Amino acid sequence: MTQDELKNEVAKAALKYVTPGTIIGVGTGSTANFFIDQLATIKDSIQGAVASSIDTANRLRSIGINVVNLNEIEEISVYVDGADESDHQLNLLKGGGGALTREKIVAAVSKQFICIADESKLVDVIGKFPLPIEVIPMAASYVKREIIKSIGGSPVLREELTTDNGNLILDIHGLTIDEPKALENRLNNIVGIVTNGLFANRGADILLLGSESGVKTIALD
Ligand code: 5RP
Repeated sequence: MTQDELKNEVAKAALKYVTPGTIIGVGTGSTANFFIDQLATIKDSIQGAVASSIDTANRLRSIGINVVNLNEIEEISVYVDGADESDHQLNLLKGGGGALTREKIVAAVSKQFICIADESKLVDVIGKFPLPIEVIPMAASYVKREIIKSIGGSPVLREELTTDNGNLILDIHGLTIDEPKALENRLNNIVGIVTNGLFANRGADILLLGSESGVKTIALD
């Protein structure tokens, strides 16, 4: 199977976690896009969806799904999104598509977080994929210096990208993230960082992995 076929299989498998009559959260990226295509087949069964990016909102609207403003609701039943890496404890590294801030907000509000990915995304230790950091533009140089001084790795400005929130992205290369929660908290304490791409304090509840032998389900006890 191609990587796209694996992503499509795992997106299809996520449909069974969608609770009819509720508002769901929908992520961003190529795997999430396969999920949106699958969602089209059951679109009348849900009340609507909160999108984690402008791109996802446009895709949802294009298939006739009601896109809901998060400030008008209190609960999202389930959030379905991809990841750049997951470890076996379902700590995620996300933000390859630059949508990490809205993704983290939607994940925080959701009762259940289903992460969908092809099996190449499961790793023993996250950090090989550069860790995205969303920063306020005027703080970019300061944040870069602080990361080099107090965190390590090599932060690189993502060229020609402005996030949906009008900010910049620094990608930190060369990290080995042994303690994802601790690093997430430390990055949260650097002034000028809006969000970092570690989803450890609120990781996934279930990881669905597309593999040659079928979709594998990994859930924490
Ligand atoms: C976007 C994300 C995506 O979930 C992540 O980059 C994975 O993308 P893809 O499904 O295209 O591999 O965090 O900000």
